[in-house]
Amino acid sequence: MLAPGAALRYTANVVLDRLRVPIVQAPMAGGPSTPALAAAVCEAGGFGMLAAGFKTAAAAREDVERLRAATRAPFGVNVFVPPEAPANPAAVAAYARRLGDGLGKARFDKDDYDGKLDVVLETRPAVASFTFGCPDAGTIDRLRHAGVETWVTVTTAAEAAEAAAVGAAALVVQGVEAGGHRGSFAEGEGDVGLLALLQLVRAETDLPLVAAGGIATGAAVAAVLCLGAAAAQVGTAFMRCPESGTAPPHRDAIGTRRPTALTRAFTGRMARGIVNDFMREHSAHAPKAYPEIAHLTAPLRQAGDPERAPLWAGQAHRLALELPAAEVVARLVRECDSALAALPSSVERRAEQ
Ligand SMILES: Cc1cc2nc3c(=O)[nH]c(=O)nc-3n(C[C@H](O)[C@H](O)[C@H](O)COP(=O)(O)O)c2cc1C
Repeated sequence: MLAPGAALRYTANVVLDRLRVPIVQAPMAGGPSTPALAAAVCEAGGFGMLAAGFKTAAAAREDVERLRAATRAPFGVNVFVPPEAPANPAAVAAYARRLGDGLGKARFDKDDYDGKLDVVLETRPAVASFTFGCPDAGTIDRLRHAGVETWVTVTTAAEAAEAAAVGAAALVVQGVEAGGHRGSFAEGEGDVGLLALLQLVRAETDLPLVAAGGIATGAAVAAVLCLGAAAAQVGTAFMRCPESGTAPPHRDAIGTRRPTALTRAFTGRMARGIVNDFMREHSAHAPKAYPEIAHLTAPLRQAGDPERAPLWAGQAHRLALELPAAEVVARLVRECDSALAALPSSVERRAEQ
């Protein structure tokens, strides 16, 4: 019998234990994630994920149905945990004035969190992964009873401890190298690199870890496995695949030598993208106001001007290849195996050498 308030622990992480190859395709809201991309990764032996963020619950359900029609392999669905309260309206209004006319209406909403949880509970994917927050123990319990494992994205050791305490089955450890939004939810945003973060999180919990951020080659997959991760979650390296829904100007920017930076300018939440004019002009002025700013700038995303729309990408985007997703997976596995095989059995040099 569990003590009152104690979180139920998963006895095993069935999904990660059974993966044929330790590659998770990162959920990527806003277009890049498609059922076709997830299906291709699943069929190649990895773990495909759908992104439910920034779309309706009905559209998320359709994605699940399309993915189920394309593969019998297990997959995951990713959901944004909403903020508890609206941002400071004066700060939002000041930023709206700065951006000028022709933008959308800043408003607070919860991205239909409850509707999306219902979709997950009803369609029962193998995994529900959460970002921007940590679901409560009751939600994780309901998911567990429906046969769905809960993964929580963390960016600090404190977030890892919080997610472990409410009963997460696994943690997606997101280093600061990662493309797209930071999954941070605790006070003080995490800006820790993946190498340091994996060590810090491992010192906090023995939960299985999925490493994310800047992983674009098999050598990097090998590195995170050496650091104790059960799998690598790869995002940007899949964005140039034909199965991905990355918009053409965004696709063109990925794979170049252009630098990336963190910014709140587009959504009011920290995210990493390729530096463009809009970021240069507004990053220093953007308030912490998600999702208000995301609604405000929605017309910029629809217009798709690459200097005014976000070009989310991780620090290693230069290495993303224009290849079918199955080939990206196969290449990562091949390179990972070679990197591991090239390691000496001991790094200690013998006296006679
Ligand atoms: C375009 C884009 C969209 C993303 N959308 C989501 C999302 O909807 N949910 C989520 O948990 N993470 C999202 N991420 C972050 C990824 O899950 C992951 O942490 C990141 O891609 C890993 O770094 P990498 O891009 O360098 O591989 C997104 C990343 C990118 C590049």
